[in-house]
Amino acid sequence: MSELRITGGNRLFGEIVISGAKNAVLPILGAAAAIDGKVRIYNSPDITDVNVCAEIIKELGGKTATENGIMDIDCKGICKTEITKYTACKMRSSVTFCGGLLGRFGEVSFPVPGGCILGDRPIDMHIEGFKALGAEVTCHENGFTARGRLRGADIALRFPSVGATQNIMTAACFAEGKTTIRNPSREPETRDLAAFLNMCGAKIQIKADRIEIYGVGALKGCAYSVIPDRIEAGTYLFGTAMAGGKVTLRGITAEELGVVYNILIKTGCNIKCGEDNVTIKSSDRILPLESITASPYPGFPTDLQPQLTAMLSLARGQSIIKETVFNGRNRHIKELNKMGANIHEDNGFVINGVPSLKGAEVCCYDLRGGAALTIAALAAKGKSVIKEPEYIFRGYEDFTRKLKSVGADIEFYP
Ligand code: UD1
Repeated sequence: MSELRITGGNRLFGEIVISGAKNAVLPILGAAAAIDGKVRIYNSPDITDVNVCAEIIKELGGKTATENGIMDIDCKGICKTEITKYTACKMRSSVTFCGGLLGRFGEVSFPVPGGCILGDRPIDMHIEGFKALGAEVTCHENGFTARGRLRGADIALRFPSVGATQNIMTAACFAEGKTTIRNPSREPETRDLAAFLNMCGAKIQIKADRIEIYGVGALKGCAYSVIPDRIEAGTYLFGTAMAGGKVTLRGITAEELGVVYNILIKTGCNIKCGEDNVTIKSSDRILPLESITASPYPGFPTDLQPQLTAMLSLARGQSIIKETVFNGRNRHIKELNKMGANIHEDNGFVINGVPSLKGAEVCCYDLRGGAALTIAALAAKGKSVIKEPEYIFRGYEDFTRKLKSVGADIEFYP
């Protein structure tokens, strides 16, 4: 079994360049399948989830080529509209291909998706959205098939689902007339998808409480650069806050960090922001946070909840984190406690800060949980072994190389 071996205790010093955002590039690659032309993506991160998207595009009949973070995609030749179980099981976000395929070809078949185990992850809002756009959807034990010419609709989401918003938005580009999505995802990555689609000829307007899409019938190719990964940046900032040291992140601004920036200030970290960089300096014990809730944007991102939980395990007092997006995003808790953290669940994660963590053998159960265990191990005294780190490589480009470059003692053993 593969593992990361980490000897904790080194303070971190140096610079890390932030990669393109996983959650921005994946829906863009999904939407690229709907484009009858060539697409060039700059700042595409070299992560396994992007490789799975390339596999799906090839399976559908398209072409991709990547060099130095530039991905070329040609979906003119796409002739299939079925996502196979083989690729869908590798990554839940494969559902992101559905809206574009349904819009462009009037048909899509999708099996039950895979991905991180984060509790219940239904796709009913995607399906309801396609139905509202006029598609006929047949659900079966192993997935669903949607068919039909789409027409604009007024759709209110019961929860601002990122994936459902993105899928409906992409499909609606091909619908006749105007579509309104109410209570949509407001994540920067959803804005990035809209900006990409608009560059391809779509007419999408993002308003304060809704997204309006005017159907255009067809989309053309473009060249587009994806936004930086605020979750990757947050992970390294929390990691430095725990281990101590001084690290500059290049390619991201305080504005792009959003609420994460405020949290670091509140926990007593010293942060300086430049035009395209953020520097964190940390020497003292972190201050606790009375109460924080992981919730849809502009709230604190659920994708940083495990890493924040790890960080607050070293705080000077008690913190409470509530997770409101994924009911099963808690498997890192038991693993962090193996490293000496004092966390229990009681209507949220109750984190009683401890002065230090100790190295331990722990296991990754999902992408962000794995990142949380890694930053905890970097700050812990002694050696840690993190089993099944492949989850982490799904979303972090050059994970071990970047950490080593700032002084971490970390090795990947395949
Ligand atoms: C996206 C992100 C993921 C992030 C999540 C929340 C990508 C590739 N992934 O995932 O990293 O953690 O947003 O910020 O961008 N739900 C339903 N029915 C649906 C769809 C969702 O009940 O049809 C529920 C889910 O079970 C979950 C919540 O809504 O509890 C949020 O899910 P959603 O926002 O859709 O997340 P994803 O798009 O899967």
